[in-house]
Amino acid sequence: MTRKEYGHFDDANREYVITNPQTPFPWINYLGNEDFFGLISNTAGGYDFYKDAKFRRITRYRYNSVPMDSVGRYFYLKDGDTVWNPGWKPCKTKLDSYECRHGLNYTRITGSKNGVEASVLFFVPLKTWAEVQKVTLKNTTTEAKRLKLFSYTEWCLWNAATDGENFQRNLSTGEVEIERSAECTAIYHKTEYKERRDHYAYYALTNAKADGYDTDRESFVGLYNELSEPQAVLDGKATDSLAHGWSPIASHYVEVELKPGESKDFIFVLGYAENEQNAKFETRPLSISHLTLAANSQEPMVKSQLLTSLGEKDHHIINKVHAHAIIERFATVEAVDAAFAELCALWDELLSKYSVQSSDERLNRMVNIWNQYQCMITFCFSRSASFFESGVGRGMGFRDSNQDLVGFVHQVPSRARQRIIDIASTQFPDGGCYHQYQPLTKRGNNDIGGGFNDDPMWLIFGTTAYIRETGDFSILDELVPWDNQPGSEVSLMEHLRISFNHVVENVGPHGLPLIGRADWNDCLNLNCFSNDPNESFQTTGNKNEGSKAESLMIAGLFVFCGRQYVELLKNRPLAANGQKPMANAQEIARAEREIEKMCQAVEKYGWDGAWYLRAYDYYGNKVGSAENEEGKIFIESQGWCAMARIGAEQGMPEKALDSSAELLDSEHGMVLNWPAYTTYHIELGEQSTYPAGYKENGGIFCHNNPWVIIAQVLAGRGNDAWTLYKKIAPAWIKDQDLHKVEPYVYCQMVAGKEAAKPGEGKNSWLTGTAAWNWLTVSQYILGIHPTYEGLKVDPCIPGDLKEYKVTRKWRDAEYVITVKNPNGKQRADKPTVLPYEPGRHEYTINI
Ligand code: GLC
Ligand code: GLC
Repeated sequence: MTRKEYGHFDDANREYVITNPQTPFPWINYLGNEDFFGLISNTAGGYDFYKDAKFRRITRYRYNSVPMDSVGRYFYLKDGDTVWNPGWKPCKTKLDSYECRHGLNYTRITGSKNGVEASVLFFVPLKTWAEVQKVTLKNTTTEAKRLKLFSYTEWCLWNAATDGENFQRNLSTGEVEIERSAECTAIYHKTEYKERRDHYAYYALTNAKADGYDTDRESFVGLYNELSEPQAVLDGKATDSLAHGWSPIASHYVEVELKPGESKDFIFVLGYAENEQNAKFETRPLSISHLTLAANSQEPMVKSQLLTSLGEKDHHIINKVHAHAIIERFATVEAVDAAFAELCALWDELLSKYSVQSSDERLNRMVNIWNQYQCMITFCFSRSASFFESGVGRGMGFRDSNQDLVGFVHQVPSRARQRIIDIASTQFPDGGCYHQYQPLTKRGNNDIGGGFNDDPMWLIFGTTAYIRETGDFSILDELVPWDNQPGSEVSLMEHLRISFNHVVENVGPHGLPLIGRADWNDCLNLNCFSNDPNESFQTTGNKNEGSKAESLMIAGLFVFCGRQYVELLKNRPLAANGQKPMANAQEIARAEREIEKMCQAVEKYGWDGAWYLRAYDYYGNKVGSAENEEGKIFIESQGWCAMARIGAEQGMPEKALDSSAELLDSEHGMVLNWPAYTTYHIELGEQSTYPAGYKENGGIFCHNNPWVIIAQVLAGRGNDAWTLYKKIAPAWIKDQDLHKVEPYVYCQMVAGKEAAKPGEGKNSWLTGTAAWNWLTVSQYILGIHPTYEGLKVDPCIPGDLKEYKVTRKWRDAEYVITVKNPNGKQRADKPTVLPYEPGRHEYTINI
């Protein structure tokens, strides 16, 4: 029996093509990669925001609603009595054809019905605070067609959190303006603009006359109608409603005539603008229905109309200079097409930094397109907004963002540099940090708490990756505050030293790192002891006093990243006065001693006989030991301690890898722990709240499989590394129904072997899995490492991969490296280091 497929890859166009709108879950894409962002599903559901999905939500979305994926940017077509949408939803009228192409920061949805083809291209032009939608309607019949086109989007009242809860206020505050002329109809959303906000949003039809509009949801949809049957659409006419509170929306109505074979384009722009405090309002005296000169009209005076919620009483007409500029910029199809071409050219450039040619098209697809694309998305969004992250709960994670930038730094190093400074600025003087910060304010987010003792080490991980990529040691001299307090600035180098020390100064009875609130695994809460369902495991009071809870994951992280710290010190160029900065030699010696001490502590107290322990709990009992009934073995400490090669002389890493293969592995990847917990353990916290096989309790956390893969590479096991890589990578997904979420990106978790439905994916898109798998495949498997000494080539591949070619742009150089493996080896006897030299170089390396 052939499995049901919902779509396929189109590598030449760098697109994923969805051919059935009823995917097993909404399969989404992201628009924008700078300040203005959108999420869009394969049926055009989703929303937009500016920088911060919580504080500047532009359009509304109803999470986990019925039906699934409710509200987006919808176009309705009324053709006689038939009403349909090009993306199938919300009407769900059976289409004659449907196709959704998710490309790199754009989506094109095309549907057809009764001889009309409607295609909508959605994208955010570069350096633009707006989403552009180009709607192309084509009459494929031999008869003339008269159609009615309606647009629809729903405004969010800016703060997405209060928008969903404070209805006693929200249902009274909504305000809009409508500006109409023969060329353009723009609907402005200005709730709270007259008071403390200096921003507004707009939705404009820029290249055609609208025959009507709606701004009040109830008038357009009808109070008891669904979005699949809006009253105005059924009636075939807009109501020209003006929103006064309740739920403001934006809808345009256009009557369209198409001759046989004719096609017409309609351009819609959904944007956001900010004004200076002293230039917020229109200064000329208000006349609600005034006459102005239309810019591109031949006729001297064309009637243009302005309507506002408050009518004559409105003293606060928005100064629309910024919106007008964007509307005018995108008033022609040529301008829109040119902006789209620029976006595609940016992606040509970004993806040219690293590409592989091999005989395996799935490997090429992951490396050359989708993994790199996902790295850009996780860099921009951290864990804030997806179809699993509501945009209100989480901002930019300290550890998350440091990991994300390792997958992104080769794409746009300057943005990675700024990110490092932003992250470090939220750190506390003792090296600890807020777990998250808000992208809009760049301030630490107190609601999420802090005290995760792995956090500081990730700053070393991120910063050293940046310097190896760019050679830019000057970042170390940047002055960076503590907790954003002006006057507290010290060099970034000092932040790294303090980060290293945070572990050194927080060790427990075995000399292993104290875990604090938790380590990488947010849900291993060894000091929390929570029995109140109303408190969050992430922020509740922690019993740190007297705790013996130690983490082997942090131990491995400390050794691995501690060595990166030492390497950085050793390679840092001399200061202008010829001195090694910061008493280098002593610092190097001290750091090496601490790392050595940690290795000894792990060998002595962290080895369980056949694998590394996971932790000691509050009382000093073992977690992740053969002695435990459940949770005998955990992946995090196997991955990190084996990556750090702790106990290599006694063969510990290899033994740990064997045990992981035996006890953690499954058809879909390695589970996080085994056996999963089946009862709540107050001394372990949130991990044991999850049903067995899900999330951090026996789920396949795709994020930490690459740790094991890298450890396999470092042990020279190319075949094993490749086998596990393929289990996790989306290009090899076999069963789209089972996998459920997007088959073109990694998800955070796939249900584990003890789950009800092993292999079912969840939490797609925003996960450190993207960066880690990028690091794994680009540097460890294919073996191209940027280092301080040069480009190190050290592949570790499956024996049957006989040849491949990597093109790597590194700083001002381009390396074209052909790797040949005629004898079917898994690894070369020793790495080759190619010196850094600007220009283009070709090399052939034999394994
Ligand atoms: C989530 C978090 C990440 C954490 C992981 C394990 O993916 O974003 O910070 O490390 O879960 O708990
Ligand atoms: C939950 C999730 C975990 C996530 C954390 C962040 O514990 O299971 O993956 O990192 O929340 O708050």
